[in-house]
This record gives sequence, structure tokens and C-alpha cells, in this order.
Amino acid sequence: MSVRSERKAGIHAMAVRVLSAGFVLALASAGAGCDSGSAPAPEPAQPAAEEPVAPAAEEPTAPAAAGDTSARAEAEEIFTTRCQTCHGPEGAGDGPGAAALAPKPRNFQDPAFQEAVSDEHIANIIQFGGVAVGKSPTMPGNPDLASRPEVVEELVAVVRELGRS
Ligand code: HEC
Repeated sequence: MSVRSERKAGIHAMAVRVLSAGFVLALASAGAGCDSGSAPAPEPAQPAAEEPVAPAAEEPTAPAAAGDTSARAEAEEIFTTRCQTCHGPEGAGDGPGAAALAPKPRNFQDPAFQEAVSDEHIANIIQFGGVAVGKSPTMPGNPDLASRPEVVEELVAVVRELGRS
């Protein structure tokens, strides 16, 4: 009796397996049919989603060993693409976007400004925006950099170097 019920159970388990395998196959082929029908173009790699900037494609080829260099390159790229419009290419606060702003962006070349602010303050305003540090709300935050402290650090360095030029 126990042998019979074991066999029965075995057959049952097998049937379940066959059935579910068939179900998975059906799902898979339904999915494949769907894909080829609606969108023949290959989907773009997912990592690009967060970073619409072209250099994102270079990330896999730049291994961790070049960490500092790539963080620096990324910071410079971010300054050019996100900050320059207001702060100007040399940080003088004369970017095209600055005309409409009140207060105007600070002149990073001004030694008095450089002395007045700490690295931490610069890092905070870059990440969290003007409001968070009691400054103008027109200075935007960059919340995507919260997980990239090394890039924030390099952006602070970029701001500091503009003060030395
Ligand atoms: C839309 C225009 C705009 C953009 C884009 C912008 N800023 Fe600003 N930023 C401002 C304005 C305006 C101020 C001045 C705020 C104030 O004095 O109240 C400012 C202030 C600053 C300050 C000085 C903070 C202080 O205490 O005086 C730093 C540093 C700074 N921005 C860095 C950056 C960096 C780095 C970027 C790019 C990641 C950036 N900003 C992008 C408008 C902008």
C-alpha cells in the first residue's frame, strides 16, 4: 500500500512538473511572439537609463582601478553639462542662464567667496540645492549624485580650482 501511494505520488509530481514545464514554455513562446511582433529593435542596455549622457557607455571599459580619474572626468562633464549654463565656463557666474537669475550665481573666481565657504558647504549645495543650505532655490540640487560621493568631491575640486585660475 505504501509502495502504491508512493508511486502515485511520484506520478502526480511528474505530471505537475510536465504541466508546469509546458506552461513555462507556453509563456516563453507567447513572450517571444509578443517581442518579435511589436518591437524588433533591440532594447538599449539598462545601465544607460540612469545616465542619459553618452559617456555612460564607457563605464564598463573603465574599471574600478581608474576610479579617481573617471570620477574627475565625470565631474568635469557634469560641470559642463549642468553647471555652466548658470555659472559660466570659468565659474564667473556669467553663464547664459544667469541673466534671468536673482540672486546671480557667485563668482567662483572671487577669493572672498572661496574663503567664505567650506568644502562641505559646496558639497551640500551641489547635492541638495540652494534651499537646503539657505540659498536661492534657483540653484538646483543633484540628488542623483547622493550615491556618488567621489563625483561630488571632484565637483568641489572643480569649483575650488576655478577659484585659483
Ligand atoms: C539654474 C542655474 C544654476 C545651475 C544649473 C547651477 N547653479 Fe549653482 N548657483 C546658482 C545660483 C543662482 C547660486 C547663488 C545662490 C545664492 O547665492 O543664493 C548658486 C550657487 C552655487 C554655489 C555657491 C554656494 C554659496 O554658498 O554661495 C556653488 C558652489 C554652486 N552653485 C555650484 C554649482 C554646481 C557645481 C552646479 C552644477 C552641478 C550648479 N551650481 C548648477 C545657480 C545655478
